[in-house]
Amino acid sequence: MRLQVFLSKAGIASRRAAIDIIESGRVTVNGKRIIEPSHKVKPGDDTVLLDGRKILPKKKLYVILNKPKGVTTTKKDRFAARTVIDLLPQALRHLNPAGRLDKGTRGLILLTNDGDLINRVTHPRFNIDKIYEATLDRRLLDRDKERIERGVLLNGKRTAPCAITLKEKNRLEITLHEGRKRQVRRMFAVSGYGVLELKRIKEDFLSLDGLREGEWRYLTEREVARLGGSP
Ligand code: URA
Repeated sequence: MRLQVFLSKAGIASRRAAIDIIESGRVTVNGKRIIEPSHKVKPGDDTVLLDGRKILPKKKLYVILNKPKGVTTTKKDRFAARTVIDLLPQALRHLNPAGRLDKGTRGLILLTNDGDLINRVTHPRFNIDKIYEATLDRRLLDRDKERIERGVLLNGKRTAPCAITLKEKNRLEITLHEGRKRQVRRMFAVSGYGVLELKRIKEDFLSLDGLREGEWRYLTEREVARLGGSP
């Protein structure tokens, strides 16, 4: 890993600011002063000091949470009565949600301090399945189902193809790879349906099994490895 990246991942400074810190000669690696930001280090093996103090690689943390209805996802909403962060213990409150669920939606949300993983889970390029259970205000007609599956225009941009499985009456499951704002609700609204209940039940292979509303758990090492994170 480049020294500049190591410093920023350890929470010392942004990558930009880390360059200045290194170039100003404040950093040593295994006792040798290094002023080259792209100098390669092995986290955990090499001893990196800043102003004589040891820098430890920041531990990566990964949790999933079952968000109840009425709770806001964004950390920064000062006016929100309750956010997902309030459901976590103090030691985990610096984590960031990977994507958003709107206030009226319940279900699975992944939180981590691993920015690369957040990018992988949320960017449509990586094709991660996000499965929602939706209850509509009436039965979905076949022609509307096909139309929504093919993709509909939201703000002039077509949604990617998706899969809908009808369950019973007006209940269905929909699998998306995107995460645009209020996407499921807006996709059905285009065809004149209201979404009465919405719950994310799966993200990739992660599911909520056993996790009650408002509860959270750490991902296992095996789950983290499968997602491509660092256990
Ligand atoms: N689609 C929505 O409409 N809302 C969500 O919270 C997630 C997906």
